[in-house]
Amino acid sequence: MNQKPQSGLTRREMIKTTGKIAAGTALANVILPRMYAAESNTINLALVGCGGRGTGAAENALSTSGPTKLVAMADVFPQKLADSHANLAKNEKLREQMDIPDDRRYIGFDGYKKAMDCLKPGDVVLLTTPPAFRWVHFSYAISKGLNVFMEKPVTVDGPTSRKMLTLAAESVKRNLKVGVGLMCRHCKARGELFDRIQNGEIGDIVLMRAYRMAPGPTAKEFCKKKPDGISELLYQIKEFHSFLWASGGSFSDFLIHNIDECCWMKNDWPVEAKGTGGRHYRGDAVDQNFDNYSVEYTFADGSKFYLEGRGMLGAYQEFASFAHGSKGSAVISSAGHSPCNCRIHKGQNQKNNKDVAWAFPQPEPNPYQLEWDHLMDAIRNDKPYNEVERGTKASLVTSMGRMACHTAQVVTFDQMLECEHEFAPDIDKFTMESSAPIVADADGKYPVPLPGLNKKREY
Ligand SMILES: NC(=O)c1ccc[n+]([C@@H]2O[C@H](COP(=O)([O-])OP(=O)(O)OC[C@H]3O[C@@H](n4cnc5c(N)ncnc54)[C@H](O)[C@@H]3O)[C@@H](O)[C@H]2O)c1
Repeated sequence: MNQKPQSGLTRREMIKTTGKIAAGTALANVILPRMYAAESNTINLALVGCGGRGTGAAENALSTSGPTKLVAMADVFPQKLADSHANLAKNEKLREQMDIPDDRRYIGFDGYKKAMDCLKPGDVVLLTTPPAFRWVHFSYAISKGLNVFMEKPVTVDGPTSRKMLTLAAESVKRNLKVGVGLMCRHCKARGELFDRIQNGEIGDIVLMRAYRMAPGPTAKEFCKKKPDGISELLYQIKEFHSFLWASGGSFSDFLIHNIDECCWMKNDWPVEAKGTGGRHYRGDAVDQNFDNYSVEYTFADGSKFYLEGRGMLGAYQEFASFAHGSKGSAVISSAGHSPCNCRIHKGQNQKNNKDVAWAFPQPEPNPYQLEWDHLMDAIRNDKPYNEVERGTKASLVTSMGRMACHTAQVVTFDQMLECEHEFAPDIDKFTMESSAPIVADADGKYPVPLPGLNKKREY
């Protein structure tokens, strides 16, 4: 977000130059777009990945100030696209901002290209598929000169993190504005807490703790044997939280928010991780996840960050992050993403309401809307705005914790970045007929991590 663009065109300049871009300019390899916007300041949007979050993000985008229009949608399941369209169109105001005839609804693994081909440079594409596809779709968006919103995580392994860091630098160079869906970074309460922590109000952070403990499986983290009537590849995409190649599993998808908000408060990334985890009460679930995870992250100054993740019926529930400093402590979040109820305590006992030194006043603005307000403001006013490098580091640090649990080894930041196990190497070539990146055994079970036995690869 703080990276300065080195070169490239502003949105205003791109609109001005559309139609007369000559070979040899910064956008020489950009295919000239068809035009939809009647007004030059209308930002057109394309949604790639029309699931729950994509639909929500489209609503947030269409709710920002200034004219916006959703002009194309892409998915691999026709029903998901249809449901997303119907859900958005239920809202009369949003319906007026949607113009998606049948020939701009694209189904298939190449749908992302067709949807982005409907945009002009400076418009915005929403990348809200499972994260495995992120680098593929982002590469194309860069080549088209598009601004981007991409959901977290942005990578799930070492090789794609390296690719994403290269793409991040390229997108900065081209002055593209790119938001990453770690929306808590846009939360006003956490933002003020960050400033207060950096100003020394709790002293030096010596310990952080975070918990995402659900009283049962979350989303698609426990999947059953593949039924007939769907290909292996599409089944794994549909149940993406169950498959490490698609999502980084429940660890990456669910724990990244707590990891990122703690690293933000520490203003650093951990240098190594060690961890444990296991599979209990599996019933007939055949996915790759553990149902409990416990990680000790270590920062360069030796301070620790303990992370607990669990999805287990009947178990204690908590979804919160805390920081402990040499002069006091802080509640970073107390029950989910929002409201976070940030506060600072003079001591370490956060149950003692009498020693609260500061608390953010309620109500808190919705961070899912704020992240879009900030992105669109940056696009309309040409402010430097690129969250990809930071989002990649958050994703990498998340993978580092996950790999430590899955292998039972100490995993450093550099080892994770240099790790050669690419979970879905040919993902940019997928077609509806492709085989899936992992195969089930004769009992329909997928390979699971074997900590201590498999030390270099997670499966
Ligand atoms: N920031 C948050 O709080 C938050 C919340 C929920 C989800 N998310 C993230 O959003 C992403 C999507 O999650 P979701 O819950 O919406 O899942 P979802 O399954 O509801 O939606 C994903 C959609 O992408 C489609 N898709 C998959 N591969 C595709 C491809 N190659 N091309 C086009 N479409 C494809 C799927 O068919 C599905 O409709 C994930 O990365 C998830 O972590 C973020």
